[in-house]
Amino acid sequence: MSQERSDTLVLFGATGDLAHKKIFPALYQMVAKGTLSEPVIGVAFEPWELPKLVDRARDGIVTALSRVDDKVFSKLASLLRYVSGDYRDGATFEKLKTALGSAQRPLHYMAVPPTMFETVVQGLEQSSTARGARLMIEKPFGHDLQSARWLNRVLHLVFDEQSIFRIDHYLGKEAIQNLLYFRFANSFLEPIWNRNFVESVQITMAEDFGVEGRGKFYDDVGCIRDVIENHLLNILLLLAMEPPVGRSADDLIDEKVQVLRAIRTLTRDDVVRGQFDGYLAEPGVRPNSPVETFAAVRFFVDTWRWRDVPFFIRAGKNMPVHATEVIVRMKRPPLDVFDPIKPGDANYVRFRIDPQVAISIGAQRKVAGDDMIGEQVELTALDDTKGDMPPYERLIGDAMNGNGQLFTRQDAAELAWRIVGPVLGDTTPPAIYAPKTWGPVDAMRGFGPPDGWINPAK
Ligand code: BG6
Repeated sequence: MSQERSDTLVLFGATGDLAHKKIFPALYQMVAKGTLSEPVIGVAFEPWELPKLVDRARDGIVTALSRVDDKVFSKLASLLRYVSGDYRDGATFEKLKTALGSAQRPLHYMAVPPTMFETVVQGLEQSSTARGARLMIEKPFGHDLQSARWLNRVLHLVFDEQSIFRIDHYLGKEAIQNLLYFRFANSFLEPIWNRNFVESVQITMAEDFGVEGRGKFYDDVGCIRDVIENHLLNILLLLAMEPPVGRSADDLIDEKVQVLRAIRTLTRDDVVRGQFDGYLAEPGVRPNSPVETFAAVRFFVDTWRWRDVPFFIRAGKNMPVHATEVIVRMKRPPLDVFDPIKPGDANYVRFRIDPQVAISIGAQRKVAGDDMIGEQVELTALDDTKGDMPPYERLIGDAMNGNGQLFTRQDAAELAWRIVGPVLGDTTPPAIYAPKTWGPVDAMRGFGPPDGWINPAK
């Protein structure tokens, strides 16, 4: 596969939700910055004409960005084409072939439900529109290890691994890029970034809304498959990995894969599952569904650096705040020389991922006065979203340029499923929690980092 830029973007699922909410706004921004000038062919089942897709794109952009510059938008509109048809029908792909015209290196973006992946890939193959092309696919990459392997086999029948771009949009987030940068562009962290100094790591992803009309999708998936197995595990990898030996995509991904290989396979004792009160009444949710909308999971990374340091991940819908944060907590000083340091007040590094980007260091300092009494303060190293590039913009651009660094490689996708495999599909009823709380109180008692959880602030 050459490193040449893709010369057309083909968007399967162009009338869908993801295209509306994320992809069109990203394409608009790319046009505004001059990083997209190639044709964009939307493909979907709806028997629309092009103007309707253009209207839909505009609506998505206005909703996401609350403004639209007419000049930029008309440039985007001039790049858009639309092909309608059933993905199971060869005629749809013949129409696509005609729309592709003389394009040599399309990027096929599958923003479609996973049940359609195989059908679309076969349609591309049979119509020869896969030739010279790249493929970008949205998670989930399978449902478990077996289906992930099957999916990879299906994709590899048509595309080589270098041409496949598996999106985890978290990897395109500015704050997550910064996490990696902060770790390896500074030397002061490295000496303490290991089991000798780190007490625990906790990653919290709290969403203050429920399943928002996605009940049917969510009920097939649950919290562990939806965000832990992918987005949050990826954060853990960036925290735990060794420095890459070079700058290529594989150099970085190889180090992440080493961590994945060292993560212990979970058992049910490593997980607390919860479901918010009211979930069962959501449209699309099965009666008595045992699906979790909250999960707290304990991971261990059996490497020289991390042996026995617990890495906790906690995620949930209907939490009190909307925030994603990482806390790397250091061990307490060996002796309280002054006043006793309260449990949980040890030094820490906080990476705020969402909604703002910030990196802070928690430390003790003396309160002014006669006594040697301290207080906890935070030194905030960064809080800046200027120039922040939304993940989809970054990732679509990278895939068009053939840069796979921020995408999930086949081996990584499969290893992640190996780790979570035994805790998937649990049919025991999860513990119920009240909406807008931090999960099931009783079930969570005693489960967490040794010095407790830190709930992200609003
Ligand atoms: C998606 C999940 O992958 O990520 C959603 O399917 C979740 O359930 C979303 O809400 C969170 O993404 P972000 O970027 O808004 O934190």
